[in-house]
Amino acid sequence: MRIDILTVLPEILESPFNCSILKRAQDKGLVEIHIHNLRDYSLDKHKRVDDYAFGGQPGMVMQCEPIDRAISSLKQQRVYDEVIYTTPDGVRFRQPLANRLSLCRNLIILCGHYKGIDYRIREQLITLEISIGDYVLTGGELAAAVMADAIVRLIPGVINDEQSALFDSFQDDLLASPVYTRPSDYKGWKVPDVLLSGHEANIREWELQQAIERTQRLRPDLG
Ligand code: ADE
Repeated sequence: MRIDILTVLPEILESPFNCSILKRAQDKGLVEIHIHNLRDYSLDKHKRVDDYAFGGQPGMVMQCEPIDRAISSLKQQRVYDEVIYTTPDGVRFRQPLANRLSLCRNLIILCGHYKGIDYRIREQLITLEISIGDYVLTGGELAAAVMADAIVRLIPGVINDEQSALFDSFQDDLLASPVYTRPSDYKGWKVPDVLLSGHEANIREWELQQAIERTQRLRPDLG
């Protein structure tokens, strides 16, 4: 898989992709993540990418030209499954969407900024508008990093235990059951006996009951 991220603030995206699991996934050749500075596609002599909004609304708007040039240049090189725009008024990013996007070959993620992007780009070039939640971030970079992380970890081989992504919270609309490690007794705080029993069937049943109970209590909307 290849993900191209278009941004006016590439610095924000440096560290999320340059350490730990996402870095290893790139080193192993399981994913390519390319960050592009939209200013490099500006024809303005000051490398401007934004301008005042028509109609006198406050706030700057990202202009068509640099975005169009960046997307066109990428599309000339390969076919993209989706051209995604990060925006609070997009569809909510949930696990099923992450699952679907993890099966794609090539994705573009355009990070919104300022007051937003010229609406003509959304109408003409964007195929999917995504919000990571009902709150407004200063820009789309962190949203792009969240999405890329959730997508890439689903690619086979990216996380060690291939099974474990399948058992994540949300994959079956159930929250995960609690996990514990040694020591089994820390300051009198005890690990549930069943987990120490070695009885596989009882353990699986306990985990399922915990998952159901926690989901009903913490996220009744998922049921
Ligand atoms: N840009 C600003 N806020 C956002 C959000 N909640 N989701 C995606 N992109 C955004």
